[in-house]
Amino acid sequence: MELQSRTIIVTGAAGGIGSAITAACARQGARVAAVDRVEATRPTGEDIPAEAVTPFLADLSTSAGCADLLVEVTDRLGAVDGLVNCAGVMRRGDLLEIDEDDWAATYAVNVDAVMRLCRAALPSLKDADSAAIVNIASQWGLQPAGGHIAYNSSKAAVVSLTRSLARDFGAHGVRANSICPGEILTPMLQQKLDDNGIAESELAASVPLGRLGRPAEVAELTTFLLSDRASFISGAAIEIAGAQQVG
Ligand SMILES: NC(=O)c1ccc[n+]([C@@H]2O[C@H](COP(=O)([O-])OP(=O)(O)OC[C@H]3O[C@@H](n4cnc5c(N)ncnc54)[C@H](O)[C@@H]3O)[C@@H](O)[C@H]2O)c1
Repeated sequence: MELQSRTIIVTGAAGGIGSAITAACARQGARVAAVDRVEATRPTGEDIPAEAVTPFLADLSTSAGCADLLVEVTDRLGAVDGLVNCAGVMRRGDLLEIDEDDWAATYAVNVDAVMRLCRAALPSLKDADSAAIVNIASQWGLQPAGGHIAYNSSKAAVVSLTRSLARDFGAHGVRANSICPGEILTPMLQQKLDDNGIAESELAASVPLGRLGRPAEVAELTTFLLSDRASFISGAAIEIAGAQQVG
């Protein structure tokens, strides 16, 4: 029960990784605001109290969507102790293949929403006893994959934004870290495999550990970083990729 009685916002909570993070936070005793543009399913299980997870619908690609969300969450669940930015989108293509709309749509969710939600949550976080931000970036934000310029650069921005937050708000007791997953089997990755006609086993063969990552493994790292066990970890960008290098 490492997150007992903490109020934690998890975005992208209807997605593969976000739903696993929501369940893991609830299992550790948190009150979770499960945010997505589509209704997030409440996680079930004997170890998850029914009232632990409250779904919130929000389109985080707009400034108003982010601002309204913070007001709604604090009204219903109280001051925020933790924020996990997991919502994300991927538009493929090199710079000559994508258009300005692809770029803007990617940055609206992957970068601007992260900045806006961090800014809106910071007054609460500065007052909290144990405040932590975890931003889900990507290994591709550290080593760019070919043909994904908008996504790669947006995730690099998340890593840098997170390090800046850690520097600027460490004195207020706010820790901020980013997680950089490799290939984690979720609907987003499945779509990529389907689009490119790649079998899961083929991709798994490129990972030294011989398999794709599981959303629960990213959730485990997230709850650790939110908890006091990670009390001196801030400004880090942690890869969780089974030793795979970006090809
Ligand atoms: N799956 C992987 O291999 C992998 C690897 C590296 C990084 N990531 C990152 O992890 C995060 C989660 O990815 P996933 O694989 O679970 O993807 P996913 O597509 O299953 O989940 C993403 C969620 O974000 C939500 N979302 C998108 N736009 C939104 C908006 N405007 N407002 C509110 N919610 C919105 C979607 O509805 C979806 O539920 C993403 O940030 C992704 O970039 C994933």
